[in-house]
Amino acid sequence: MQINVALLGLGNIGSGVFRVLQRQQEALLERENVVVQIKRVLVRDVNKPRSVQVERSLLTDRVEDILEDPTIDIVAEFMGGVEPARTYLVQALNRGMTVVTANKAVVACCWEELDEAARKSGAGLYYEASVAGGIPVIGTFNRSLQANKILEVMGIVNGTTNAILTNMSERGWSYEAALADAQAKGYAEPDPSMDVGGQDAVYKLSILASLAFGQRIRIEDIHCEGITTITPEDIAFGKSLGLTLKLLAIGRVEEGRLQVRVHPTFIPDGHPIASVRRAYNAVFLHGDAIGHAMLYGRGAGDLPTASAIVSDIVMAAKNAGKHEHPAFLLGREQDALPLEKNWLTACYVHLLVNDTPGALASIAGVMGKYGVSLATVNQISRNTPVPLVLVTHPARELSIQAAMAEIQELEAVDRVVNVIRVEKEG
Ligand SMILES: NC(=O)c1ccc[n+]([C@@H]2O[C@H](COP(=O)([O-])OP(=O)(O)OC[C@H]3O[C@@H](n4cnc5c(N)ncnc54)[C@H](OP(=O)(O)O)[C@@H]3O)[C@@H](O)[C@H]2O)c1
Repeated sequence: MQINVALLGLGNIGSGVFRVLQRQQEALLERENVVVQIKRVLVRDVNKPRSVQVERSLLTDRVEDILEDPTIDIVAEFMGGVEPARTYLVQALNRGMTVVTANKAVVACCWEELDEAARKSGAGLYYEASVAGGIPVIGTFNRSLQANKILEVMGIVNGTTNAILTNMSERGWSYEAALADAQAKGYAEPDPSMDVGGQDAVYKLSILASLAFGQRIRIEDIHCEGITTITPEDIAFGKSLGLTLKLLAIGRVEEGRLQVRVHPTFIPDGHPIASVRRAYNAVFLHGDAIGHAMLYGRGAGDLPTASAIVSDIVMAAKNAGKHEHPAFLLGREQDALPLEKNWLTACYVHLLVNDTPGALASIAGVMGKYGVSLATVNQISRNTPVPLVLVTHPARELSIQAAMAEIQELEAVDRVVNVIRVEKEG
């Protein structure tokens, strides 16, 4: 079977797709009976030098050359950003072309619109590469876990921040030095704010949690904190307590309510996700039938991401006309679990405290007032102001926030350096 594909984008990922399709041509025919023919490639600048040898006649900067070509079956998009990707993909779907995309922003922000266009025309919509690059997480949730009620998804879904935190932890580097290294090695964008601020992980959690929990989770529903205020001292203090710091994307059902949050998190060293180093990604999940499971691998990069995209193209070719859409988009909003912002969590609290009598008692007093009890208290050195690290027992998020707002104002407290949530053993 021959399938005609147009690529939207020939940058990092588009070039990877081009290479993988060339490399795997024979295997795809032999194993899947599919010949993928690249008919057109949309770019911004047709004269730009390319890292792959692509026939000049395939390149175009006019999207109409693709949308108005009735021989094109699949539009595979890796341009990035919401616009003009959204407009192009909706137009392609309206014309009955199947869409494969690696673009988490367009999927997370415009899911309903893309899905509606796909349903109306009967075209397919595939987005495996939009979360965790080469790791088949979307397919796992869509096709392999139907027998489960998912209770928890916990992911390291941003390789840049994981590489930064790994270097801060293992080499004692400052955040700034680790970020500069990630930029020099090409992991981090020149403007890294989407990664280090947590927004990239929010897009991915929006997609993952929507599938895992069977209800639409919008990006604005997700609590978001990045890693920019983390210090090497926090990581070292955590280590001394047997904890590893990760930027986690967490979706969890507790007491019939759903929590969705992205923030730096301490996890016990023995938790499977603590062992995920450098730019690797992992998604740890808990289903009521499967129990705990973890998917691990390369969450970015040209070839890993192309692996997921080419798999989607082959699946789309074989599935033509029988695409399955997530059930939650079919108006089951009334069954949706309410979202919980006041979750239960233990916290690590790093304070600088003036060396005055009664300082600890005044801090513990405020904690007690809000029902937050202390599990451990460590004075780290005799310097003044004195670094004090407290770990609380699980308490309500809003109680911890209220306690911290008051503690910050205590005369005994010089500064609250960081408050980081602590997860229990997996
Ligand atoms: N990088 C990763 O590891 C990774 C992993 C998973 C998913 N993704 C997703 O994949 C997508 C692409 O990432 P990338 O790293 O390949 O980006 P990139 O290197 O910047 O490439 C973008 C490509 O799209 C083309 N393009 C952009 N805007 C366009 C427009 N308005 N009209 C026509 N062509 C346009 C560019 O054309 P020119 O070449 O002419 O400028 C370029 O070829 C993003 O959505 C990203 O989130 C990336």
